Amino acid sequence: MYKIITKRKLAEQIWVKDLEAPRVARKCLPGEFLIVKIDRYGERIPLTVCDYDREKGTIAIVFQVVGSSSARMAKLEVGDCFEDVVGPLGRPSELTHKTAEELQKMNILFVAGGVGTAPVYPQVKWLKEQGVVADVVQGAKTKDLVILEEEMRALVGDHLYVTTDDGSYGFHGLVTAKVEELVEKEGKHYDLCVAIGPMIMMKFVSLLTKKLGIPTIASMNPIMVDGTGMCGACRLIVGDEVKFACVDGPEFDAHLIDFDQAMKRARMYASEEGREYLKFKEGKTHHGGCGNCGGQQ
Ligand code: NAD
Ligand code: FES
Repeated sequence: MYKIITKRKLAEQIWVKDLEAPRVARKCLPGEFLIVKIDRYGERIPLTVCDYDREKGTIAIVFQVVGSSSARMAKLEVGDCFEDVVGPLGRPSELTHKTAEELQKMNILFVAGGVGTAPVYPQVKWLKEQGVVADVVQGAKTKDLVILEEEMRALVGDHLYVTTDDGSYGFHGLVTAKVEELVEKEGKHYDLCVAIGPMIMMKFVSLLTKKLGIPTIASMNPIMVDGTGMCGACRLIVGDEVKFACVDGPEFDAHLIDFDQAMKRARMYASEEGREYLKFKEGKTHHGGCGNCGGQQ
């Protein structure tokens, strides 16, 4: 059982909870994700780790209420427990494979969209520990939906650029408009962009950075369902290869991702009929190779 240590509302329907999970806290790295389950009846929910404290043995998860399972998760109070927390899963961010010296030579830009700010936070924090202050463009629909601003500002100071779609706070416009301004008007140079947020945002950030010549990574967490390579939900095309976000990712070279295919497929996967059609059409490549079925079932 995984006890809730703290609970805080970040914005309407968005919560952060610290859980006691010492083994996960000891091992997890930025970019990896978890599967959480409230109880035996609860849905398996894949969530990126937002923060971890190896000494205290705690991890932080951020989630938005979008259905009955997440609504039940929001109702749990301090002292209540999650029945299962499985992880860390997936592959850590590529940045974690570089040395501090290599990272310190790079100018890195993060583009965080809405709830996608939560998985950006541990990457920015990890880089700070390596002596790198990244630029962060963080977008939300409106002021009340800007999350973790104080925490992010504590890491990067005035390298944080907050945008709101309605202009109620910070820069008025989409994250892409701010990135364009930083590069084209302010002359910023970036060696790498990491975009994490809604699929549509990652698609348009990717189109922009391709034009600007900035290598870009996107996190395909939004299309995951079971998170273990068995359900086939997170199948996507990267370059000319079939990949599965949960076992091969969640992060991929954004310029190689077919975002339109991934978004169309995710819509089809939502219905029983759509899933049957995808299974028929994709045959043995429908599953993600959990290691048990060999992707044959
Ligand atoms: P949102 O819809 O409020 O969008 C956040 C920001 O993205 C906007 O403020 C805007 O600046 C930018 N954006 C949106 N559409 C854009 C477009 N067409 N072009 C350029 N920029 C655009 O975000 P939300 O409601 O918080 O999003 C929730 C989504 O985030 C969910 O779908 C969830 O799956 C996803 N999410 C993704 C990850 C991940 O790992 N990629 C992690 C957590 C959440
Ligand atoms: Fe089910 Fe990846 S989330 S196969």
